[in-house]
Amino acid sequence: MGSCFYHPRETHVSLGIMNAHPDWFGHGVARTLLEEVCRVADADGKPLRLVSSALNLDSYSLYTRAGFVPRSFFQDMVIEDVSRVPRPASGIRSAILDDLPGIVALEERVSGIRREKDWHYFLTDDHGWRVVVKEAGGTVNGVLASIDHAGSRLLGPGVMVEEETAQSLIANQLQTDRGGNPVFLVPATSKGLVQTMYSWGARNCELHVAQCRGEWVEPQGVVMPTFMPETS
Ligand SMILES: CC(C)(COP(=O)(O)OP(=O)(O)OC[C@H]1O[C@@H](n2cnc3c(N)ncnc32)[C@H](O)[C@@H]1OP(=O)(O)O)[C@@H](O)C(=O)NCCC(=O)NCCS
Repeated sequence: MGSCFYHPRETHVSLGIMNAHPDWFGHGVARTLLEEVCRVADADGKPLRLVSSALNLDSYSLYTRAGFVPRSFFQDMVIEDVSRVPRPASGIRSAILDDLPGIVALEERVSGIRREKDWHYFLTDDHGWRVVVKEAGGTVNGVLASIDHAGSRLLGPGVMVEEETAQSLIANQLQTDRGGNPVFLVPATSKGLVQTMYSWGARNCELHVAQCRGEWVEPQGVVMPTFMPETS
């Protein structure tokens, strides 16, 4: 009748890909699934986080009725012709497993969440993930993953201390063959980043909202999630 994913992490539980069979829409299937995931998160004493479409009133209502609070707003962008994307500044390279502690620490500093296993997976998987980092003085101050797979072509997740770092990492990923034109989520409040993406020819193709049930940590930098549950 319905299904969803949830992933317990060190700091939180993330949730996504909620669906009910159309024959059962409006009969409480999703609410019942969500109640179970809320029970798991509450038993662990952790906040529950997700990234959901801001254009889908059914899911928006489902989550906010269950006590989720919309916290961050994202523009899903795509650049079909990358000829206006400049060559990124130096200091960007493919990440290696030795970068894992720095990446995990950066995400905790910027987003307030910790999920070492996810980043380990992105760094070691050979099914289409690619991770790039920007370093300054031996410290990772930006990271951006991308996935090139028949199931999804996305940039993200990523976290950066500065908008300029986000621009450089996006440029680097876009100039690498990712199997087409990947979609990426940019915080609507990162005004300079949004305007730069427009100047590179970006178009909006969706809107997403990060929602949280429980304690929310305000980001200290640029957060680029995807709408896949593993990246909330
Ligand atoms: C979104 C989806 C999962 C909802 O599933 P569902 O089983 O029909 O949802 P439920 O019957 O459990 O209803 C959820 C709640 O939202 C409420 N709701 C729905 N539309 C609402 C609206 N416009 N305003 C306020 N509340 C609304 C319902 O009343 C219900 O709350 P209640 O049980 O307290 O009355 C389902 O529509 C779906 O599978 N859609 C396609 C896939 C999708 O979009 N998934 C979301 C991805 S993030």
